[in-house]
Amino acid sequence: LGMQPQFIIIHQQVAPYVAHIQLNRPKELNALNLQLMSELRDALKALDADDTVRAIVISGNEKAFAAGADIKQMADKTAIDMLNIDQFSTWDAIKKTRKPVIAATSGFVLGGGCELAMLCDMIVASETTRFGQPEIKLGIMPGAGGTQRLTRAVGKALAMEMVLTGRMISAAEALQAGLINKVVPVELYLQEAVNLAAEIAEKSPIAVKLAKEAVLKAFDTTLEEGLHFERKNFYLLFASQDQQEGMQAFIEKRPPVFKGK
Ligand code: CAA
Repeated sequence: LGMQPQFIIIHQQVAPYVAHIQLNRPKELNALNLQLMSELRDALKALDADDTVRAIVISGNEKAFAAGADIKQMADKTAIDMLNIDQFSTWDAIKKTRKPVIAATSGFVLGGGCELAMLCDMIVASETTRFGQPEIKLGIMPGAGGTQRLTRAVGKALAMEMVLTGRMISAAEALQAGLINKVVPVELYLQEAVNLAAEIAEKSPIAVKLAKEAVLKAFDTTLEEGLHFERKNFYLLFASQDQQEGMQAFIEKRPPVFKGK
């Protein structure tokens, strides 16, 4: 990965074919400054290209997944500074990760932190997780997907309330609203996320990649185009050895061994 990152820690093979990236600015509740976000972008790009990785978990620590973009870094910026820095271009790059990314959350998941969790493909939360978009309290609004991804995930009523009041919701409320996949006791949230990643990592990585791509397509296309896209990916998988292995293993009543070919 070249230079050692300062604000993230990368753990390889926390389970077979699973990598874990830990956000590591604990004193600042993992506030997402520009350097942390570029390190995260570079790490995801490298792991996405690494054949020994099939699924990725991103966590913070027990107290905070991330309390948002770094307010101190933004406080004195002008609109033109913000335009030139264009901090969200790193987010566009992160969105291009083709392998599944699971957020393992605990504590504060606020502002850009909530937006980062929503940029992941799934969220496993500890019971102590609090999700929120508190930007309105700072005289700004969400800028990294909070008005769009949150609304699509939980619907207008709750999204509007969260974005306009800044109220935090509990993990239980987030689960009920469809924002997250699972809530577990705080001692277990990271392991649960790794287990989920490991379960996916046993599947054909080619099928996983194309399936993820097709699910995401549902968010920015018509049904007709989405179905067409899905069908192309489905047909494409019949070019893989993994498809032959998966079907042959079923017929022979044995577990498949997927090679990503
Ligand atoms: N940016 C910079 N520093 C932050 C931060 C942030 N988003 N969140 C917390 N910190 C810092 C605090 O300033 C504090 O630093 P000092 O010790 O140097 O004072 C340290 O982390 C610990 O935080 P607190 O003392 O505030 O901890 P607490 O337990 O009393 O409160 C909290 C926790 C309620 C999460 C509170 O820290 C808070 O409200 N944080 C800001 C949350 C927020 O507004 N996030 C949105 C940011 S804007 C954004 O994200 C835009 C976007 O769409 C991308």
